[in-house]
Amino acid sequence: MRILVIGGGGREHAIVWALANSEKVKQLYCAPGNAGIAELAECVPIAVSQFDELTTFALDHAIDLVVVGPDDPLADGIVDAFEAKNIPAFGPRKNAAEIEGSKIFMKNLLKKYNIPTAKYETFTNYEQALAYLREQQAPIVVKADGLAAGKGVTVAHTIAEAEQALQDMMVNKVFGQSGGQVVIEEYLTGQEMSILAFVDGETVRPMAPAQDHKPVFDGDMGPNTGGMGTYSPLPHIDPAIVEEAINNIVVPTAKAMVSEGRPFRGVLFAGLMITENGVKTIEFNARMGDPETQVVLTRLQTDLLDIILAAMNGQLDKIDIQWSDEAAVCVIAASEGYPASYPKGRAISGLEAAAAQGALVFHAGTAKQDGQFVTNGGRVLGIVGRGRDIAEARARAYEAVSVIHFEGMHVRSDIAAKALR
Ligand code: AMP
Ligand code: GLY
Repeated sequence: MRILVIGGGGREHAIVWALANSEKVKQLYCAPGNAGIAELAECVPIAVSQFDELTTFALDHAIDLVVVGPDDPLADGIVDAFEAKNIPAFGPRKNAAEIEGSKIFMKNLLKKYNIPTAKYETFTNYEQALAYLREQQAPIVVKADGLAAGKGVTVAHTIAEAEQALQDMMVNKVFGQSGGQVVIEEYLTGQEMSILAFVDGETVRPMAPAQDHKPVFDGDMGPNTGGMGTYSPLPHIDPAIVEEAINNIVVPTAKAMVSEGRPFRGVLFAGLMITENGVKTIEFNARMGDPETQVVLTRLQTDLLDIILAAMNGQLDKIDIQWSDEAAVCVIAASEGYPASYPKGRAISGLEAAAAQGALVFHAGTAKQDGQFVTNGGRVLGIVGRGRDIAEARARAYEAVSVIHFEGMHVRSDIAAKALR
């Protein structure tokens, strides 16, 4: 088959890596890709937002299947655009991707179908939001309605901090249109967990659970990022709780989307909090997580293409999906300054040494200049160690991190530490 992957981050590098291992794949393209992806697929310099150019490319190159990585094009209807040209594309249509694209849509859906989530109010008017906030107690959570590159959520520890976030979103428009409407919600405490699942309508096939670390610094300090590191499995979480989350949250949500006339086909990713009152939904994403994908696909033993084709053909309930018993830990190497502004073009060394140790290094923001890998994004690399358990996988990931270098490289040193306590 001839496959086009859309995106150019670490998640897409992991997807391309998994697809490259499939015997059915004859030709693999990635738009726009990155310097690491270029080792496995032909990178095509078309941005993920250029739907006309992408569909034309797919027709010209007889693409059999498109696999979409990132949230923005899904929210903008990239799957509908391919389908309009009769090109099969794996990912939710625009009306289903709204589960991620609008937090207000998501919260209202969960409320309507009695699916557990934090209590909340939504606002389109700044004065009303501010008045409401002033009657609440901290900690409290303020969320921009729309997509904001993983940065649209403020967990405020004081009302003043929440007011600032509200002002940034609704008045200063730091997230543009995405902050025009906001959700103010109850602060939940507990362990976080993510469940990703292949979904086709009402059929839900969960992947191995994974856990991300969103804040930029150790001990969950500093601003939220797209994600600084992940691990899978979650040995400290009772499998009965994972079961509860699938049965009470993920499956009912897939059913609710069907009932709403917005059947979801693609990867549904539930961000969850295990509270004293049961598992509650924090958010849904309409795609694989980044860097959750880097650990989850590392553990997938079934051919990823077979699973995607089963979903495309209405056979997702029939396919056998196997996961490795091995653990995987992914540590993100970021540019100094991320998630705010950061430099680019810094030479990266040690990639071969890390690979020689057995680490998998997925590129997120890299480019090649004169034959040399250089930094080209906020998150630069996802360095994955594998082992019998989390402790071994974690030690191997950090061993690989220690041989990789670029000026200003920042890693959290406590990825997966929670799993060992
Ligand atoms: P999100 O972008 O929705 O994944 O939120 C980013 C992070 O903010 C989550 O991973 C949580 O750590 C935190 N968060 C979001 N909503 C809540 C909430 N209601 N209570 C506590 N923490 C939250
Ligand atoms: N790692 C979190 C996300 O992809 O949204």
